[in-house]
Amino acid sequence: MSEDRTFDLVIAANRLPVDRETHDDGSVTWRRSPGGLVTAMESVMRGREGAWIGWSGNPGDAPEPFHQDDMYLHPVPLTEREVGDYYEGFSNGSLWPLYHDVIVPATFKRRWRAAYETVNRRFAEAAATITATGGTVWVQDYQLQEMPAMLRELRPDVRIGWFNHIPFPPVELFMQLPRREDLLLGLLGADFLGFQRKPDADNFLRACRQLLDVSVEGDEVRLPDGRIARAAAVPISIDTSALAELATTPQVQERAAEIRRQLGDPEHLLLGVDRLDYTKGIRHRLKAMGELYAEGALDPRTVKLIQVATPSRERLAAYQQIRGEVERTVGQINGDYSPIGATAVTYLHRSFPREEMAAMFVAADVMLVTPLRDGMNLVAKEYVACHGDDGAMVLSEFTGAALELEQAHLCNPHDIARLKDTIIRAIESPIADRERRMRTMRRQVMTNDVQRWAELFLAALAAAPERPAQ
Ligand code: ADP
Ligand code: G6P
Repeated sequence: MSEDRTFDLVIAANRLPVDRETHDDGSVTWRRSPGGLVTAMESVMRGREGAWIGWSGNPGDAPEPFHQDDMYLHPVPLTEREVGDYYEGFSNGSLWPLYHDVIVPATFKRRWRAAYETVNRRFAEAAATITATGGTVWVQDYQLQEMPAMLRELRPDVRIGWFNHIPFPPVELFMQLPRREDLLLGLLGADFLGFQRKPDADNFLRACRQLLDVSVEGDEVRLPDGRIARAAAVPISIDTSALAELATTPQVQERAAEIRRQLGDPEHLLLGVDRLDYTKGIRHRLKAMGELYAEGALDPRTVKLIQVATPSRERLAAYQQIRGEVERTVGQINGDYSPIGATAVTYLHRSFPREEMAAMFVAADVMLVTPLRDGMNLVAKEYVACHGDDGAMVLSEFTGAALELEQAHLCNPHDIARLKDTIIRAIESPIADRERRMRTMRRQVMTNDVQRWAELFLAALAAAPERPAQ
């Protein structure tokens, strides 16, 4: 593969920021890819002259590279079988559950692992082709953990960073992974490894110390060949001011008022926004809400919940199961408690434009963010950026966001009784208390936005101990 252009900054992520959609008449359109990685990285790359390597979301031949929003998008192909083995298999059937506290069991298959290696090598080769001499390659997330070492072999001149958007598990869990050492050595091909929280970086360093023949001092790992890789926490964020600005536009404000009217002007509007994933705690949230309606603690005529559940990884059994459970529970709650013409729980299983998401955040009095485990959770930060001072947020302790948004009503979503108390506390919190909490959280999210995150990461990468060979 020969490429005419090379770039000083190259991002590699499993997904491109846009997904290819081929219609029945053969025409092709592109739509924004799901998830927080794309939300964050798209803002980072806008205005930077960089390239983004990733999969187009469909099996088969990759489209030709193309330009979009100042970015050069370089598609990497995946065969149908690789989608099954690398993406759905090892990435989302082995790593995703293992890295999220095995909320569902992790499955290991040697065939999946082989495909993971093949695809990681393909990404490394693509990056090697389009990165300028002495350039920087920023590898993203758990789908590409073997890529850093593979790229280093091909291009010892480039500086390589890796950022983990999800948690890094405690060594006791990580140890379950077959050929776990290869994965760590793959990561250690990077000069700098970024994690959402310090405990994630510590888990990684502990795994290196315990499972590899390396020396770990502080946040540095020294490899047998003398190279050093550094690992530290750099918590990700959102494009706060752009989102806050969008939320104050008359269109979004009017739409927010309209959403409330459409719901019958509830006294309290609660909101959940998640990919339909078993890590997000949607079932626990609905259980708590159902009991609160049942006990009469919440009146279904005046307290409404909107639950947005974005379709995700729909061919995997665990995702089909959680969808079934969520949809059954929503049906039960509405069947048991909704008044005629105004359902208690509005369930939305689809994607929305940014403006509509912002309008929902503006409209909601109480945001419910209750994951069982989440690397960061950008939705929590988006609510803080969009909503005025009179908002309130229930936030799971098991999110990265909980370390930064301490003024949220923190909760353990496994403890349904306490979760119910916390929801009631958030709903009933007096305005002065709401204002104090929201202002502090907004300051935090305004100061620590995604641009600052990218600057911190790239500065740490540039300063990482090991300078690449020139
Ligand atoms: P994850 O990356 O696990 O999906 P995050 O909360 O970090 O979780 O990021 C989710 C991102 O996807 C946020 O930017 C959120 O606004 C966006 N999002 C979630 N649901 C929808 C939806 N139905 N339509 C459009 N965007 C959505
Ligand atoms: C999370 C992961 C991302 C992933 C996104 C959507 O944010 O950290 O790597 O892209 O979920 O999941 P999907 O499997 O559809 O790419």
